[in-house]
Amino acid sequence: MDIDFEQVNFTYQPGSPFEQRVLYNIDMTVKEGTYNALVGHTGSGKSTILQHLNALLKPTSGNVKIGERTITSETNNKNLKPIRKKLELFFSSLNHSCLKKR
Ligand SMILES: Nc1ncnc2c1ncn2[C@@H]1O[C@H](COP(=O)(O)OP(=O)(O)OP(=O)(O)O)[C@@H](O)[C@H]1O
Ligand SMILES: [Mg+2]
Repeated sequence: MDIDFEQVNFTYQPGSPFEQRVLYNIDMTVKEGTYNALVGHTGSGKSTILQHLNALLKPTSGNVKIGERTITSETNNKNLKPIRKKLELFFSSLNHSCLKKR
C-alpha cells in the first residue's frame, strides 16, 4: 500500500487567533516496502506530516491517498478505523514516532 500526498496544506486551529499554517503544498509518495527518513529542523512540521499518514490529521486542503482511500478536509471521521488498523503510529516519546504496517 502506497501513500501519496498531493498538494497537502495544513493549518492548525484555522480561523482562531492561534491559527498557524504548517504544511505548504506537500507532494510526496511513501512506497510500500521502503524505509524513509523525514528530516527537518524543530518545528518544521515532521510530526504534523506523520499524523497525516494514517489520518490522525486531515489536510486543510489537498489530499492524502492511503491505499484505496483518499483523505481530504471533507473526510468523515467515521470509517477511519480500517486505515488505523493497517497503519499504526507509535509515539515512543513526545518527539519521536514511527509507523508500523500490519
Ligand atoms: N496541536 C497544535 N496546535 C497548534 N500548533 C501546533 C500543534 N502541534 C504543532 N504545532 C505547531 O506546528 C509547527 C510544526 O510542529 P511539528 O510538531 O509538526 O514540528 P516537528 O518538525 O515535528 O518538530 P520537532 O522536531 O520539534 O518534533 C510548530 O510551529 C508547532 O508549534
Ligand atoms: Mg516532531
